[in-house]
Amino acid sequence: MSPEITLRLEELIKKLRRKFIVFDGPDGCGKSTIREWLTTSMTDLKMPVITVREPGGTGYGEAIRDVLLHRKITGEHLDPSAEMLLFMAARMQLMQKVIKPALDSGNAVLSDRFVSSTLAYQCEGLGVPWDDTLNLAKLVIPAEYWPACTVILDAPQAVLNSRLSSKSTDRDRIESRTDEFRERVRFGYLKQAVLYPHHVILVDASGTVEETKSNIVTGLSRFFREKI
Ligand code: TYD
Repeated sequence: MSPEITLRLEELIKKLRRKFIVFDGPDGCGKSTIREWLTTSMTDLKMPVITVREPGGTGYGEAIRDVLLHRKITGEHLDPSAEMLLFMAARMQLMQKVIKPALDSGNAVLSDRFVSSTLAYQCEGLGVPWDDTLNLAKLVIPAEYWPACTVILDAPQAVLNSRLSSKSTDRDRIESRTDEFRERVRFGYLKQAVLYPHHVILVDASGTVEETKSNIVTGLSRFFREKI
């Protein structure tokens, strides 16, 4: 990273103290790499931070993750709303057991996926009603514990598909869905950037990892500058 970006990153990290930040986007967008890099950068600067991944992060949450991603029940289709409720149940447990206590004790929290994933995958992707899902999320997430910013990493569908097909591990139940489903999911993310500009930023993740890191620093710095 250039010295200029490193300096801007240090300035940005000071603004992330005690904040809840979500990294999200379609499969293949590279959010986990970015979340890990920012966590390491914050830890190096002695900023208290924890990192979580959805679905999962608690005992019950990991059990639900297994059902959602890896258990194929032959001859039975999982109802889309039931799928949404399972993601929400795992999220409730994660909020109560991990995210809320971590924020209360002064940590920043960086999460890989959150409500934005449910809106994109289950609502836009599968047709579960958007407003009902958002209302349910309000029961799961106390008002003062919503993410300060959701960073959506985006790239053209062809780039996402080629990253996904070069993945060495087997595709999980959701990654195995059709190209049309994936396009709807991406649209679901783009829509959130338009609908919720006060909470969501869109970052170009179509280039190299270094380029995406630079875009993240620029995007988040601007977001917090405009917020304050
Ligand atoms: P995971 O292996 O964690 O993939 P990734 O590294 O892409 O996050 O799998 C999570 C999968 O679950 C992913 O395909 C997206 C999906 N998902 C939903 O469909 N809805 C949700 O609310 C969440 C949190 C995840």
